[in-house]
Amino acid sequence: MLDSINFTDLSRRQVVEVLSWRNHPAIRNHMRNKETISLTEHLQFIEQLSTVTSKRYFYVHEKCEGVGTFSLTGIKDGSAEIGIYVNPFLHSKGYGNQIIDFMINYAFDLQNLSTLFLEVYKDNAIAVQFYEKNDFIKYDESNDMYMMKLQSQQIPHKR
Ligand SMILES: CC(C)(COP(=O)(O)OP(=O)(O)OC[C@H]1O[C@@H](n2cnc3c(N)ncnc32)[C@H](O)[C@@H]1OP(=O)(O)O)[C@@H](O)C(=O)NCCC(=O)NCCS
Repeated sequence: MLDSINFTDLSRRQVVEVLSWRNHPAIRNHMRNKETISLTEHLQFIEQLSTVTSKRYFYVHEKCEGVGTFSLTGIKDGSAEIGIYVNPFLHSKGYGNQIIDFMINYAFDLQNLSTLFLEVYKDNAIAVQFYEKNDFIKYDESNDMYMMKLQSQQIPHKR
């Protein structure tokens, strides 16, 4: 069973672990900022999270093992933009689906949000398929990205 820790409450070891995931090419190449992030920048990023209410980042773990992260940003008027990545050093499958279920439960049931948005690069075929499989719907696109959303009222039968 998964559990989560707000980035603002992470131990030093977990902070460093998250940075190693974020800087892994399999993750950063799919992010808007594709640069390698220094520990100083990472610590500053985490520190400023405790001063804002519009964004929250979570470390997700199963028992003692970190399995990935999810984030809610631009939280306002019942909506937020989401982001997810799985620990790239894990080789077991299935954590993406588990983390998105965990995140949807947190966002809709615990935070009472009604719409989740995301932007995903069109060439990130695994993520596009992953979000579609989890009921996100494409509603717009730019040259290189799809805009997708999920509304709480379309929460499917399976959840
Ligand atoms: C996108 C991501 C979160 C999916 O997590 P995952 O652990 O690989 O996903 P799961 O193993 O739970 O699989 C869930 C679905 O994703 C898709 N998927 C996963 N691996 C895939 C692959 N190699 N090829 C095609 N589709 C794949 C499938 O639709 C799969 O459905 P299934 O349950 O029928 O197999 C993960 O690949 C990741 O962290 N990617 C890098 C960061 C990223 O791109 N984040 C999104 C940015 S917007």
